[in-house]
Amino acid sequence: MKVDIIGAGALGLLFGGKLAAGGVRVRFWTRTTEQARLLREEGVHIEEPNSALLHIAPSMILAHSVNDIVDGSMNNSEEEVPDWIFVTTKQRSVDHDLLDIIGQIACPKTGIICFQNGIGHIEIFRSAFKNRSIYVAITTEGAKRRDSHYVIRAGVGSTQIGIPQASQSLLYNDSIDKKKDQFNGEDLLKMLESAGFEAFLSKEIDREIYRKLLINAVINPLTAIWRIPNGELLDTKLRVAMLKQLCEEGMRIYEAHQISIPSNMYEQIISVCQSTAGNISSMLSDVLKGAPTEIDSINGRLTEMAQAAGISAPGHEILLNLVRGLEAAGD
Ligand code: PAF
Repeated sequence: MKVDIIGAGALGLLFGGKLAAGGVRVRFWTRTTEQARLLREEGVHIEEPNSALLHIAPSMILAHSVNDIVDGSMNNSEEEVPDWIFVTTKQRSVDHDLLDIIGQIACPKTGIICFQNGIGHIEIFRSAFKNRSIYVAITTEGAKRRDSHYVIRAGVGSTQIGIPQASQSLLYNDSIDKKKDQFNGEDLLKMLESAGFEAFLSKEIDREIYRKLLINAVINPLTAIWRIPNGELLDTKLRVAMLKQLCEEGMRIYEAHQISIPSNMYEQIISVCQSTAGNISSMLSDVLKGAPTEIDSINGRLTEMAQAAGISAPGHEILLNLVRGLEAAGD
């Protein structure tokens, strides 16, 4: 099996590194030539939750910068065409250039799996690759990049993979050819399992996407603004009241769009805060690095959905602007 990983951030390094350790041909595509060089020279280091260190030697992986494709200095030889492409970039990196690169690397039989938070990108993939199934992975793996070739697996999670169906077209109005979109990823699941991941095929991936969206929409902006790890959201009554308000607003938005998600979302959010208590959320991490955040694809999308349904979501609206304001300040 051949897997290409586009985006060697924390999740990309974790999945790519462990798959390579399990004997899969893994090729990383990085944004910078410097990271590709480092991976070729040093390999990948993974620190497991029990502190065990896994070193994937340089000889076990391939690594290139996407610039090699853009400037035409590298041709994608036929024997290297991947069976699967894992797109593990941030959602904001899903643009014309990225789609063009994927188009050059993939062949018609290559499966594309999107790992991004938020919503909106799947429709972009679908319209760029009309004749193929676009898969979505929702993972609770906790991964933190220590440097460009070293990742800490903060917590072992599980990964659900599926093909989004009708509800994803809610705002974007694309139509899905259900016959084409049959999941044929049994080999993929086996490969992930033998690399040490808990992976499932989900027939309800839309529900998972919206469940994760609400978890991210509640936890991420609050931690980014208050600059606290996830667990500290439970430390005061005021913070917990904010969690509740944002969760209830989200549930009302979903209800207005007839999106079904579990009724115990508030309890689920509390439990994510507890199980990831020491984690810095991805949004806080972006803010601390001065990088753009995923606020638009998370709270921005929820706010659009509220407007489309003619209901108000004041908590999500204000958070959207507060986090956008942090970005504008180059904080
Ligand atoms: O985006 C994140 O950081 C994570 O999805 C979550 C669940 C909020 C835990 O940190």
